Amino acid sequence: CGIVGVNGLNNATSVLVNGLKKLEYRGYDSAGIYVNEQNGKDHLVKAQGKIINLENKITDNVQGSVGIGHTRWATHGIPSVENAHPHFSQDDRFYLVHNGVIENYLELKETYLKGVHFESETDTEVVVQLIDKFSNDGLSTPDAFHKTISLLKNSSYAFILMDREQPDILYVAKNKSPLLIGLGSDFNVVCSDALAMLDVTDLFLELHDKEVVTVTKNDVKIENENGEQITREPFKVNIDPAAADKGAYPYYMLKEIDEQPAVMRRIQGKYLDNNEPKFDAKLIKQLTDATKLYIVGAGTSYHAGLVGKKLFEKLAKTPTEVVVASEFAYDDPIIEDGAMFIFLSQSGETADSRQVLVRATNEWKVPTLTITNVDNSTLAREADNAVTLEAGPEIAVASTKAYTAQIAVEVLLATAVGRIKDITAAKEIDLNEQFSQTANAMQVVVDEKDQIQKIAEDNLAKTRNAFYIGRGLDYNVALEASLKLKEISYIQAEGFAAGELKHGTIALIEKGTPVIGIITQAATADNTRSNLQEVLSRGANVINIVREGLAKDGDQIIIPSVDEIMMPLVSVVVGQLMAYYATLLRGYNVDQPRNLAKSVTVE
Ligand code: G6P
Repeated sequence: CGIVGVNGLNNATSVLVNGLKKLEYRGYDSAGIYVNEQNGKDHLVKAQGKIINLENKITDNVQGSVGIGHTRWATHGIPSVENAHPHFSQDDRFYLVHNGVIENYLELKETYLKGVHFESETDTEVVVQLIDKFSNDGLSTPDAFHKTISLLKNSSYAFILMDREQPDILYVAKNKSPLLIGLGSDFNVVCSDALAMLDVTDLFLELHDKEVVTVTKNDVKIENENGEQITREPFKVNIDPAAADKGAYPYYMLKEIDEQPAVMRRIQGKYLDNNEPKFDAKLIKQLTDATKLYIVGAGTSYHAGLVGKKLFEKLAKTPTEVVVASEFAYDDPIIEDGAMFIFLSQSGETADSRQVLVRATNEWKVPTLTITNVDNSTLAREADNAVTLEAGPEIAVASTKAYTAQIAVEVLLATAVGRIKDITAAKEIDLNEQFSQTANAMQVVVDEKDQIQKIAEDNLAKTRNAFYIGRGLDYNVALEASLKLKEISYIQAEGFAAGELKHGTIALIEKGTPVIGIITQAATADNTRSNLQEVLSRGANVINIVREGLAKDGDQIIIPSVDEIMMPLVSVVVGQLMAYYATLLRGYNVDQPRNLAKSVTVE
């Protein structure tokens, strides 16, 4: 979910709605705002579905200078108007927006709120009713807010609370879920992500877990868990708001796919100097000293980690394990001395990954690095080291340019370490040459969209399922290409190790099942071709993505050749475009697939 708050701007309604639009990537099951005019008049508007539905319900009289807003990714309770935020107390006094999960909400409801009328099925409503109860018991609003927060167990939250009797104050609190305060002159704002408020300010204050904040239009007062007042320097966010616009493109995803050659050049410009990787010396020392690396990620970032393992093992000869964040967070791993953790996260906010970071820091006490696309994000701030991806804002829910940027940065880090360790593969790779060639190869693929569109039309328009297969790095890309396809086109797609298919899953192959083979690695090209023959004999519709030099007559998609370890950067672009066109053909919204959110800040 995403939340916003405004205090001190006469056009609060439009600032809230524009902010919510920028946060729509965090969920679009429902949206709502509450604004107060400071003269006794106030307005609550909620709608199911996307922000546009909310906007259509907002009439001209919905005005005010203080307000809060929310866009929802449903956890407790179906997507509906009743379950949309802001939630309010039964006497209409308190209004609350929340991002996170209150684990003990049922218990709190049982203990304190017997007989209270509830409008929704959400955990959030319990919180706002509790605040109201404690206020009716005689506590001041800040005290009622504090007391309620102290009762929340194992919970994650970013809250903004408004009290109708003090409508010029926003009460804010945060634990685990991201939240920033934006500073203006004669106004202040609150948001889950700076992107939401860049139109009104570029100056932000970070908040730490368990802090409670009082925001008026001229003042921001931060208190820590012990009630002590905290002062903190603001930071400036340097993102051009235009970078988050889709311009002439029909969808963000297509824009972001097309940007990948430019992202490669940007990474080359920032992190390569005279053919030598250029990173913080302390970071490279920690990575070089590490005897074992763990790469942690979720979704697409996990897939970039799978490629990273092969890069670190080949270029730096450091044993590397890749783990799914939500699993590893509650495992009992044996962490040896000398381990180091790398967190891959486009958003830098994924709660599953953060849970591992908390253990890595507090329990295993190992050095940590976050590689993320968002400067100052939670994972970037909380790790010992942070490296920025330089991919520019990624808005489409399906990640594309962040994946290739993650791999590119892994290549550079692994080479930096390998060169210090005197590993031949790292010494021999000509990074400048490879980055230039890779950017050019990606450009060739995006310039040949028509061909990929045609293949998608012929093979993916009607199918119920599909497979991507490959070996080694090609298998890693098969996993990512199939995730792209399933998450936006809803084709049941599976990425499979080409050789493993015959040990069971081949039973799913029927006449006409699309099987897309990725062949970019010379050592396994013939084996993968044999596996494709096996499915062809059983009626599959085989499509090959093959790199130049390994191509044979009849191969459908031939992609330019770069160093084999860089090939995922090129072959995945075909998979991204294939998913894009399959989705268009099937008539779905490419940028906002059902049930998903781009940044998932609950576990
Ligand atoms: C969500 C998104 C995925 C993304 C994953 C990890 O589930 O829908 O596209 O890969 O989170 O996100 P992160 O920001 O940590 O890379």
